[in-house]
Amino acid sequence: MALKLGIIGCGGIANSHMHGYNALGERVEATACCDINFKKAKEFAERYNIPHCYDNCYDMLKNHALDIADVCTWNAAHCECSVAALEAGVNVLCEKPMAMNAAEAEKMKAAADKAGKLLMVGFVRRQGDDAARAIELIKDGTVGDVYFAKATYLRRAGFPGGWFGNKALSGGGPLIDLGVHVIDLTRYIMGCPKPVSVYGAAFDKLGARENVRRDGGAWISQTEVDKPVFNVEDLAVAMIRFDNGALLEVECSFNLNLKHEKGDIEIYGSKAGFSLGEFELHTVVDHELADIKLNGDHRFEFQRDMDKEMKNFVDAVEGKAACLAPAEDGVALMKILDAIYLSAQTGKSVEIQ
Ligand SMILES: NC(=O)c1ccc[n+]([C@@H]2O[C@H](COP(=O)([O-])OP(=O)(O)OC[C@H]3O[C@@H](n4cnc5c(N)ncnc54)[C@H](O)[C@@H]3O)[C@@H](O)[C@H]2O)c1
Repeated sequence: MALKLGIIGCGGIANSHMHGYNALGERVEATACCDINFKKAKEFAERYNIPHCYDNCYDMLKNHALDIADVCTWNAAHCECSVAALEAGVNVLCEKPMAMNAAEAEKMKAAADKAGKLLMVGFVRRQGDDAARAIELIKDGTVGDVYFAKATYLRRAGFPGGWFGNKALSGGGPLIDLGVHVIDLTRYIMGCPKPVSVYGAAFDKLGARENVRRDGGAWISQTEVDKPVFNVEDLAVAMIRFDNGALLEVECSFNLNLKHEKGDIEIYGSKAGFSLGEFELHTVVDHELADIKLNGDHRFEFQRDMDKEMKNFVDAVEGKAACLAPAEDGVALMKILDAIYLSAQTGKSVEIQ
């Protein structure tokens, strides 16, 4: 029997998700979709041949016995829509960031636990071949003891526009939008150690940079806004300490005066170091420094790995695979982000409980 799917939020990323569900053929039946902008829901329904569309998730959840819901709204609606679906007995995949803050994320996890339903977070980077290979290299002992890592997601002129600069809808700037990907991925590769403290700083020196021609193909919001708001940080930098003593350094920006945009993760262990961008092991061979390039193709590919995310969600709901991005990791991530924002405000390091 096909799983009945409802899409909540019919903007840009929902299209990538539909690609993934369509790739699953008869396993998924796209039954309904909704968007508070009804025009978008209607167009989306027509585009993907979805028989029912709504201007809110409550009517959709009431009128259809859905098995799975996919929350693709702006960040401020993740908690409300996920909880509504879970309380209606529906399994949920929620886009990243899981929520606006840890309190919301905990509320969502509690709703999933109470309903006995799956709540998966859209940490798509976990699905990449690069993540799988990095984990193997650590597990088989090639890297040794991992004690330092760097997670970087720096854009030079890459503010996505739309609601992304409006704190009331986004919860923050590049830290919650981009940092979330690389912090989670690095922590995942490191074996999900418990975060214990952070020291962070945030800046808003460049703002939206609307008068600068964009460089590269960074994500652009499909939501048009009458009056653009930019009241979030444009750069965030942080150090995260884990309970195993390891340290993670994070840098992420929408806008920054740097030469080359950079999105990468570097892992440093007692036997070797490497980055996901290159998969070249920096090590010592017979008393001599050596750089050993792996020949395999270990990349993250956006749409291919999005498709894998939808498959993992459906497999997990059907009990055929473990969910690669469970709610508890979303909660841990939101605690890290809350602590970084608090540290940036106070100028002091913040402990995480
Ligand atoms: N995984 C990734 O790589 C990736 C990439 C881009 C965006 N995202 C995430 O996806 C989410 C959506 O981003 P986007 O770029 O598609 O945004 P978007 O602006 O294109 O679409 C968001 C849609 O949500 C709708 N919406 C808002 N509140 C709603 C509610 N309560 N009920 C129903 N619909 C509602 C809006 O009307 C809008 O159409 C964000 O959380 C973003 O962080 C993830």
